[in-house]
Amino acid sequence: MTQQLEAQTIINTDRDNVWHHLYPHQLENPADPMVIVKGEGMTVWDAKGKEYLDAVSGAVWTVNVGYGRTEIADAVRDQLVTLNYFAQTAGNVPAAQFAERLLDKMPGMGRVYYSNSGSEANEKAFKIVRQIAAKKYGGKKHKILYRERDYHGTTIGCLSATGQFERRNQYGPFTPGFVEVPHCCEYRSQWGEVDDYGMRAANEIERVILEEGPETIGALCLEPITAGGGVIEPPTGYFERVQEICKKYDVLLHIDEVVCGLGRTGTWFGYQHYGVKPDIVTMAKGVASGYAAISCTVTTEEVFQLLNSDDGDAAMDYFRDISTFGGCTAGPAAALANMDIIEREGLLENAQKQGDYLRGQLLALQDKHPIIGDVRGKGLFMGLELVTDRTTREPVHESVAIAIAGHCGANGVLIGRTNRSLQGFNNTLCLSPALIAGKNEIDRIVAAIDAALTAQR
Ligand SMILES: Cc1ncc(COP(=O)(O)O)c(C=O)c1O
Repeated sequence: MTQQLEAQTIINTDRDNVWHHLYPHQLENPADPMVIVKGEGMTVWDAKGKEYLDAVSGAVWTVNVGYGRTEIADAVRDQLVTLNYFAQTAGNVPAAQFAERLLDKMPGMGRVYYSNSGSEANEKAFKIVRQIAAKKYGGKKHKILYRERDYHGTTIGCLSATGQFERRNQYGPFTPGFVEVPHCCEYRSQWGEVDDYGMRAANEIERVILEEGPETIGALCLEPITAGGGVIEPPTGYFERVQEICKKYDVLLHIDEVVCGLGRTGTWFGYQHYGVKPDIVTMAKGVASGYAAISCTVTTEEVFQLLNSDDGDAAMDYFRDISTFGGCTAGPAAALANMDIIEREGLLENAQKQGDYLRGQLLALQDKHPIIGDVRGKGLFMGLELVTDRTTREPVHESVAIAIAGHCGANGVLIGRTNRSLQGFNNTLCLSPALIAGKNEIDRIVAAIDAALTAQR
């Protein structure tokens, strides 16, 4: 009884005071919010004591090594009592050590710039591109290409680079100089059935570059596998052609690894599946699995040198940017311990192995449920696109995806879904369990979806 009273008290306190993210608060008759109080491994508990298996790593593909890692907490505590903060205008021990270890996993990359959210890491990348344009191309090569269906963050700059109508709607006007290229979701081919869809979709990027004028295009920003826009793997041949195009027109390739980074797809980074050589890579969520806020903008040495050459105006020609909390030492301290865990426990290998198993189970589910139009993803990062009819591929109404996720939640399994992203296409269920997932957890996730889809019939 006391426990129940305490639970209701915290729920009331939350409901009356907190403005939740991506959450439509109902003013007349507000629902009780879900308040999560504890996590262990892949399990979380809410204030009322209900237990859930978390199939999306903290709702937004973040807690890659799972909950309750005392090793990370201890590393953060030890670091905080030694030195909690000093601006990144100077160095600190965990930041130097993590940068070295991170670059070790990223052949071809040369420097790490710290900040504290995915959006901020992307803003840094955009500023780098703009400053290179100013220094090297008289300001002309300042435009940044982004892709339809990709998301790069919540700030006005990042929304300007986001190809999702529902995330952008009502927040304009946007920053000039961002130009959209078509998406590469083969299941939703813009050109009907084509043999070499990957090549075709990549060639669209060249078309846009030529239309805009190559001398105006500074960079192309892509998610390696689109996350919130529907879990879209790049089609065969896509990235090879993208790389060629970037080279041909002297366009910097910026890969946004905020979701795929640090093991989610079974390699350290998503782009490493496709043999591409990016100029800039951004990352956040899995870097410290949510144990501390940290993001990184990683560049090649060439990019770094372009903004630090000796031959320009020394007072103005270097990267004049700062992120106050980029100097928090908790982030890199947590990131070092997070990386230790991934290496020691073989979590990249586990993500590959269990990812293959998950894909197999989802394909079996597709055989059983005609509502599953497409199964997509890589490693422990999968999406199920739901349709009313497999032949016409008519997407289900988002209320169906909401009901299915709700059914899973009521049965103790938290799954994700595309949410306020693309008009008419909020129809993909999303899975990104922690990289520690085993067969047992995957079976429970698949069984919950199976039951929810059966209930929908
Ligand atoms: C691909 C991608 N980039 C950037 C971001 C923005 O990250 P943050 O919410 O940490 O600012 C997100 C967030 O979901 C994301 O999915």
